[in-house]
Amino acid sequence: MSNGEDPRIEDLRERREAARLGGGADAIQKQHERGKLTARERIDLLLDPGTFEEFDAFKVHRCRDFGMEQKLYPGDGVVSGLGRVGGRVTAVFAQDFTVFGGSLSGANAEKICKLMDTALKIGCPVVGLNDSGGARIQEGVVSLGGYADIFLRNTLASGVVPQLSGVLGPCAGGAVYSPAITDFIAMVEKTSYMYVTGPAVVKTVTHEEVSHEDLGGAVSHSERSGVAHFRVPDDAACVALLRRLLSYLPQNNTEMPPAGPGTDDPNRMDERLNQLVPADPNKPYDMREVIRAIVDDADFFEVHEHYAGNIVVGFAHLGGRVVGIVGNQPAVLAGCLDVDASLKAARFVRFCDCFNIPLVTFEDVPGFLPGTDQEWNGIIKHGAKLLYAYCEATVPKLTVITRKAYGGAYDVMSSKHIRGDWNVAWPTAEVAVMGAKGAVEIIFRKEIAAADDKVAEAARLEADYRERFANPYVAAERGYLDDVIEPRRTRPKLIAALAMLETKRDSNPPKKHGNIPL
Ligand code: HXC
Repeated sequence: MSNGEDPRIEDLRERREAARLGGGADAIQKQHERGKLTARERIDLLLDPGTFEEFDAFKVHRCRDFGMEQKLYPGDGVVSGLGRVGGRVTAVFAQDFTVFGGSLSGANAEKICKLMDTALKIGCPVVGLNDSGGARIQEGVVSLGGYADIFLRNTLASGVVPQLSGVLGPCAGGAVYSPAITDFIAMVEKTSYMYVTGPAVVKTVTHEEVSHEDLGGAVSHSERSGVAHFRVPDDAACVALLRRLLSYLPQNNTEMPPAGPGTDDPNRMDERLNQLVPADPNKPYDMREVIRAIVDDADFFEVHEHYAGNIVVGFAHLGGRVVGIVGNQPAVLAGCLDVDASLKAARFVRFCDCFNIPLVTFEDVPGFLPGTDQEWNGIIKHGAKLLYAYCEATVPKLTVITRKAYGGAYDVMSSKHIRGDWNVAWPTAEVAVMGAKGAVEIIFRKEIAAADDKVAEAARLEADYRERFANPYVAAERGYLDDVIEPRRTRPKLIAALAMLETKRDSNPPKKHGNIPL
């Protein structure tokens, strides 16, 4: 070279450029035509500009069958490395569909495992961007072994560092189980799908005709199965969402979540809250309105928005502190707990407890949903998951009962008895075994039957029961509630309680691990 530069430096540049191109210009064009970004474009959008430090850009597969020795692409179908999101170190891997359809080879799995091992050592989150045809068919069992190596690491890292999955293309067969073990899954509408077996196999086995989209698309998984926590319109929205999600999370289980902007006045009171709960206990209202009126800047980042609408969960800030919010939703199924709601909330509660995120519960729950459908689908074991999750959680637990806290659901929803730290109710609360009508029909059946005017007698008894039990004071008198507060004061009170609970320390008896009713 005329400038005296060692030619090996130019060689390095050429090799790096080859790695950057993945499967080549044509494959990249095809990827774009599918409406998808490339692995590198996704990583560029995820990370703070200029922070990506790539690992293993030159790694290639070692398959020597089917003429594969002629087809070597540096990087081998996955781009991986460390970078920063909002200034904080984050590990990322992105499967590169332009190289063998992003399929998982032994070499490719080694790259992902190396990244995860590094993330565990330094204690940073792992983001996986999935877009893959599954096991590298030419490599056979080597690929299956690679998956298992990843599943093991996903499991060992669970609860140590946050693990986030974007699904931005195919994710099929056993490949689904890596994202499934991670903490959150975001799917892109129309271009992504996840299933254990695809439409062709489904047709052979069950004779059902179903499209990719219906079987495993973003809508199906965010509304029906609950496998996906988020669905987004395109790749850019997917990585933007993952960036936002990371902003609520600590780097690992030994750290606290980062502070939010904290610019909203902690003493702000919202007068609307004093009128928000309808006088008629059978009338719905939107618990999201309650949540937005209370949290910083009305900013509630909802998780599982489209699934089990009878309970809402998500992240927010209170006085700048990150909190995990769980709220019964009276606007859907009267806020009853059913199988899906129990699963949704249990997983969220456990996530928050893993990562030192205090739990704030807004409670308006008439009980568990009755019926054969629920019983036969195991509401007992699924409801127990939520109970178990709240019981074992040692993060600060704050509960605001806005209206109904009936029956077993009263116990489950972060009650004082299961180590709630700050349990309060609004004056509109009804803490009781059940609603007045149901209670009177059971305990006064004979009296009502014997009365001349049965309707009037039932109404009188109901009014009496309501007067005596449908209020927060019976519970407050026993210390099951720490206070009864004016709704408009909820924000300043919660913020003050959170600050006082900051030094809370609690632990569970030593054990290998509990046996949550799975
Ligand atoms: C090797 C693969 C591949 C794979 C795709 N390719 N999947 N190469 N192993 N698993 C290659 C294709 O040959 C093609 O190469 C390129 O990637 C792009 O694929 P296309 O078929 O052209 O793309 P598209 O039409 O968008 O279809 C995508 C697809 C399809 C739906 C993912 O490729 C497909 O059905 N692939 C096979 C899926 C599969 O059966 N995987 C194994 C599942 S079992 P060229 O050179 O032509 O561009 C499994 C078990 C995991 O994953 C178990 C873990 C425990």
